[in-house]
Amino acid sequence: MRHRPVSFAIALLAIVLAGCSKPEPASTTAASSGAAAASATPAVSALDAGPRAAESPVDEVLEDEGEKLFKDKGCSACHTFGKKLTGPDLAGVSKRRTAMWIERQILHPEQMVKEDPIAKQLMATYMLQMPNQGLTEAQAKALIEYFKHQDDESDDKD
Ligand code: HEC
Repeated sequence: MRHRPVSFAIALLAIVLAGCSKPEPASTTAASSGAAAASATPAVSALDAGPRAAESPVDEVLEDEGEKLFKDKGCSACHTFGKKLTGPDLAGVSKRRTAMWIERQILHPEQMVKEDPIAKQLMATYMLQMPNQGLTEAQAKALIEYFKHQDDESDDKD
């Protein structure tokens, strides 16, 4: 009866393997792989929950300041409205993101690219990390007003 423990072990292995063959939910494997970041499925971010930035009225004073900052702080080197440069096209950005998300992206791009699912996906698409331009919170808010102004169709864009 020397072979008994061996066949027992085989039987046990068969049971274990059968238990493992249950199909894994696709999402658990996809979420942990880097390839998921580059996929076409829009990423979901906790910072991006709630009303879009464009849903609140534009502050016209801040909007003017934001327009200047956009040029002075180098944003316009990588971004414009209506086409992609080295960075994403910012047309419609205030309609696709929350103000909170945009603010974090402006103030902490290096952190966003590590932690935020949307920024990770953008980074995978553009193959470039947005640099931290050293803006203050107030300046980031002014830029958001400028983006809202750009996306406001009822406005005549002076
Ligand atoms: C060197 C090029 C570069 C500069 C300068 C730059 N960005 Fe970016 N920006 C990027 C890239 C690349 C991404 C996407 C990848 C990432 O998240 O890092 C991005 C992403 C963004 C996004 C998110 C776009 C979307 O579709 O959701 C916003 C908003 C943004 N930038 C605003 C700014 C503002 C405001 C400034 C100036 C203070 C600025 N950027 C300066 C390259 C740049």
